[in-house]
Amino acid sequence: MKFFVDTADVKEIRELADTGLLDGVTTNPTLIAKSGRDFIEVITEIAGVVPGPVSAEVAATDFEGMVKEGERLALIADNIAIKVPLTWDGLKACKHFTSKNIMVNVTLCFSAAQAILAAKAGATFISPFVGRLDDVGQPGMQLISEICTIYNHYEYFNTEVLVASVRSPMHVVEAAMIGAHVATIPPSVLKQLASHPLTDKGLATFLSDWQKTGQKIG
Ligand code: G3P
Repeated sequence: MKFFVDTADVKEIRELADTGLLDGVTTNPTLIAKSGRDFIEVITEIAGVVPGPVSAEVAATDFEGMVKEGERLALIADNIAIKVPLTWDGLKACKHFTSKNIMVNVTLCFSAAQAILAAKAGATFISPFVGRLDDVGQPGMQLISEICTIYNHYEYFNTEVLVASVRSPMHVVEAAMIGAHVATIPPSVLKQLASHPLTDKGLATFLSDWQKTGQKIG
């Protein structure tokens, strides 16, 4: 399973990239606004830090506008994935870019029907938003399961399921159990993945017992 981090905070991205466990980055207009930085500048910096796919979202909602903005974003680096919304114009733009071998992340997916269309449009990634579905009382993880089942039926669907709107480590574990290809995870949740109180407790005991031996390694 690939791990992307869902942030436009370059400091956090660098820190997580240093672990060697990061496969890519996703951003969206909300995260760019939160960074308080220039969009092109911050995406350029991120694309230089992480060699894997870096999603950069268009702001236009019409096909021509998405193509114009996407072409500008694609110039930044080879690892840019153009992020387009799941609308007819977005799907058309998706087809346009993927036929030119430019990666596309189709975002704001909330149904299996939408995910089928994204695969037919040749999307590199489909981003179903699990947390936002949970928020409105619909089981987000069920959607992941449906999409994975459908995609597995068709060898010619090469779209990767990118689980988005992740809110907790359980989302990541459940997505992995279903077999989703990627999870894009907020930095705080990524850090939580490594935590367990019994790990902390066990380590404290080992360290104090080791001190009692009076030994040193090396
Ligand atoms: O980037 C898309 C998605 O991960 C947003 O998540 O937490 O705003 O629902 P959230």
